[in-house]
Amino acid sequence: MDFLPPKIEKYALENSSPETELLSELNRETHLKILSPRMLSGHLQGRVLSMISYMIRPSLILEIGTYSGYSAICLAEGLAENGKLITIDNNEELTPVLNKFLKKSPKSNQIELLIGDATKLITDLPNNIDLVFIDADKENYSLYFDLVIDKLRPGGFILADNVLWSGKVAEPIKMNDKSTLEISAFNKKIQNDMRVENVLLPIRDGIMMIRKK
Ligand SMILES: C[S@@+](CC[C@H](N)C(=O)[O-])C[C@H]1O[C@@H](n2cnc3c(N)ncnc32)[C@H](O)[C@@H]1O
Repeated sequence: MDFLPPKIEKYALENSSPETELLSELNRETHLKILSPRMLSGHLQGRVLSMISYMIRPSLILEIGTYSGYSAICLAEGLAENGKLITIDNNEELTPVLNKFLKKSPKSNQIELLIGDATKLITDLPNNIDLVFIDADKENYSLYFDLVIDKLRPGGFILADNVLWSGKVAEPIKMNDKSTLEISAFNKKIQNDMRVENVLLPIRDGIMMIRKK
């Protein structure tokens, strides 16, 4: 869900750097050929992710939830010279589009795609991660935080997408609405964790920005 009024969103986009040709082609192709294209980060959030990555200049980024590769390409823009982005998705059917677009990224040789269940693969990843982007199944957000927090370097960052969940987290939550219950529990968990500082950025569907102390 977009929280910004369309006029404001349009103005913000007109006054932000445009998508590269590659990102705009990927955006179009995702909307034409892939199920649930609203999962793609999109122009404004993509520029935010790129800008944050440039600010950090990470040597190691972990992305959980690749989908068609839009956010991976944006995050990779800010990688340090010999840095690396590892991105995980469990949907094998995305491989053809990912192979096509990740290869075209100027940072293609710094991007590693892992196809499999992130809940199982993260344990074997290296330590000293600088930046994590959590954007996969909402039911596992708390688990993903637990799996990455000790792998994150002190001073490293986690960004978690969709933490406003179309605003449902701010309404009385139905007990059978598993995703909303989990995102709400995740937000509370982060808010109460003394190892981190956090700010909920109300961009697009909400990004929880977390810094490990
Ligand atoms: C919201 S989309 C990611 C969007 C992408 N980050 C972007 O902004 O363009 C979520 C992705 O997480 C993947 N996913 C869901 N559960 C997963 C799991 N357990 N392990 C790995 N990937 C998973 C889905 O296949 C889907 O492609």
